[in-house]
Amino acid sequence: MVSNPRGLFISFEGIDGAGKTTHIDGVARLFQEQGREVVRTREPGGTELAEQLRERVLNDDMDALTEALLVFAARRDHIQRVITPALSRGAVVVSDRFTDATFAYQGSGRHFDLATLQQLESMVQTQPDGKLLQPDLTFWFDLPPEVAAERLRDARVADRFEQQDLAFFQRVSDGYAQRHAESPQRVVRLDANQARHLVWQQITHRLVQKGWLAIMVANQFKLNP
Ligand code: TYD
Repeated sequence: MVSNPRGLFISFEGIDGAGKTTHIDGVARLFQEQGREVVRTREPGGTELAEQLRERVLNDDMDALTEALLVFAARRDHIQRVITPALSRGAVVVSDRFTDATFAYQGSGRHFDLATLQQLESMVQTQPDGKLLQPDLTFWFDLPPEVAAERLRDARVADRFEQQDLAFFQRVSDGYAQRHAESPQRVVRLDANQARHLVWQQITHRLVQKGWLAIMVANQFKLNP
């Protein structure tokens, strides 16, 4: 198996209700069972400060710029305290969302200026070597907003984003499609409107294709042990 001394950074994206959670857990366990250190984390969040900012962003009323600044402040802390150290140790970082969510939710969903988001991205994610920190691979769970809304319906108390209407989620979805179109190698589209094991197959197929997972291990792994 190819080992990456810098570690691996994998993020998971999609509109609310797209069904990421089981698969994030699955990918984390898959790498753990191969003896890798796995850091499973989320955005906004992943550090004490970033989790506090998450609470505010998800529950308080604020304008789009404030939202974007808080999300990027949380990201900065997350990168410095968790993501960069983990990647330097050679760990696999598995994150429930990263910057693609900002472009999709704040940019496309809330019509916030994309050039400003790009500036913030470069301010927050540029590393000492001058390169932009990005996930090595991003799984985008593409699901029609009506289907996602149906799945979310009785699930739990909705936060500020989950309360938005279908038109908002359609824009968020278009935002993700745009990110996929811009970086098709990094942002992989998954057809999430399928049975769970078929979505999982699409994920393991990509991991095998990347050389990060042996095909035999992929075939033997049970998503729900
Ligand atoms: P989500 O990841 O869906 O977590 P949970 O499953 O606990 O609801 O919730 C995070 C919400 O934050 C989601 O609605 C998207 C939103 N969000 C942004 O608006 N911008 C961002 O940059 C990020 C990372 C998330």
